[in-house]
Amino acid sequence: MQHFILGIESSCDDTSAAVIRDDVILSNVTAGQDVHRIFGGVVPELASRAHQQNIIPVIETAIQKANIGKNQLSAVAFTRGPGLLGSLLVGTSFAKAFALGLNIPLIEVDHLQAHILCHFIRNADRTNPIPSFPFLCLTVSGGHTQFVLIRDYFDMEIIGQTIDDAAGEAFDKAAKIMGLPYPGGPMIDKLAVQGDPKRFAFSKPNIPGLNFSFSGLKTSFLYFIRDELKKDAEFIEKNKADLCASIQAAIIEMLMTKLTLAMDAKTGLNSLIINGKILPDVAIAGGVSANSGLRKALEDARDAFGWNIFVPPVQYSTDNAAMIAIAGYFKFLRGDFGSQSDTPYARSQKR
Ligand code: KG4
Ligand code: ZN
Repeated sequence: MQHFILGIESSCDDTSAAVIRDDVILSNVTAGQDVHRIFGGVVPELASRAHQQNIIPVIETAIQKANIGKNQLSAVAFTRGPGLLGSLLVGTSFAKAFALGLNIPLIEVDHLQAHILCHFIRNADRTNPIPSFPFLCLTVSGGHTQFVLIRDYFDMEIIGQTIDDAAGEAFDKAAKIMGLPYPGGPMIDKLAVQGDPKRFAFSKPNIPGLNFSFSGLKTSFLYFIRDELKKDAEFIEKNKADLCASIQAAIIEMLMTKLTLAMDAKTGLNSLIINGKILPDVAIAGGVSANSGLRKALEDARDAFGWNIFVPPVQYSTDNAAMIAIAGYFKFLRGDFGSQSDTPYARSQKR
């Protein structure tokens, strides 16, 4: 029997709805929020208001595009957290009312788990490869940078993470310093293509193990720009592509150095034989996994070290409801349902 599940994502500044038929996505509709651009970051109060305006049309469009009727839905899955509480409340309240109205189960989904589970979405002909357990995922988003060891769909262990800023924040803050609009990551990615990644070097931290720190890089970039602007007021304008390429290269190098450490044959996960499997598959997820430089670096590492890599399609990298729907599907199969008393959470929960 086929199951249709509606997924709803509203944790930050994207209102998104998706319909999945088992593990195949039928529709994935996202309304972004331009209102934040001039503020250089997400304004929580404005985000909640925009979610209120967008949620009904986005859900209606997702159901229409899936070409099903509401009464065919088996369950509704929603992002419970982490994220902005006011934003999460919009999706949570809608999901609760919708489930109650249709008398179908409600499924709460963790946003970070969902980013990882997007790798299990299948093509219509179900031929695309998916990772096998256990595997390693580098989750890189606007709020998180983590190494996660995934033993099963919902058996995930964080084995390293940032001690301050996330990788996405490093992109966004560097962009802001250069006067680029929010979100800066995609803009830096675009401009970096024409720039020289070796032109400028910035100091990098020395953090032990599998943890990261990005706040020092941001400060080094800020001071460098400030000093150069004293000598030439048009420094940023004249060197924008090289600045973007160089800061992007610095962030990618920090991520790849730690990923290589995690996958190292002697010290890292590859030294462990988990479930009889020696070489874990390695995946990336979250908004920064859309970055073309990071994707290329991972492909180079695959070619150099023989890693089996998994890179999500761009539409499943940045925030989207398809990932909520696939996570909802796996919970549905287990009968792992939420309840009307589930409340959103702003910070990551221990699971
Ligand atoms: O996963 P996501 O959409 O939202 C969160 O859960 O945080 O990630 C958003 C982050 C932002 O910091 C944005 O600048 C970054 O992902 N991002 C990128 C790219 N696309 C989005 N960073 C670098 N290159 C990109 N192409
Ligand atoms: Zn996200």
